[in-house]
Amino acid sequence: KKILVLNGPNLNLLGKREPHIYGSRTFIDYLETLEQQFPDVQIHYFQSNHEGELIDKIHELGFTIDGIVINAGAYTHTSIAIADALSAVTAPAVEVHISNVHAREAFRHHSYLSAKCKGVVVGLGLMGYEMAVRYLLSL
Ligand code: DQA
Repeated sequence: KKILVLNGPNLNLLGKREPHIYGSRTFIDYLETLEQQFPDVQIHYFQSNHEGELIDKIHELGFTIDGIVINAGAYTHTSIAIADALSAVTAPAVEVHISNVHAREAFRHHSYLSAKCKGVVVGLGLMGYEMAVRYLLSL
């Protein structure tokens, strides 16, 4: 099985970005753990700070893979274009947020992506990615 793990803006700074909110582990370090947890799964990891690049990746892999795990960062709250891309492709998606966005500023409470996803994992830290992969593999 093939899963795309897609991280949006500022998530390249995990580990040093507001560690009291997002933790002190880098995503590259966590990715190794994730790959070990799912040895039979091909995990394609892509991070970009650019909205269009995230959309291009959804187009590129979204018709052939088994699922998309997406943390679009702040684009979650702004991007109709990423929502449309998720609608356009055939792969099911799960939205992940490391922090509990509902316990934070009001502008983080709305997501344009949630309605296009099978489900949403919020506030479980990096473990949310593992939960999302596990769910997508169960489909
Ligand atoms: C985030 C939450 C977003 O509101 C924020 O803009 C991020 C990270 C999270 O994983 O908790 O960049 O998606």
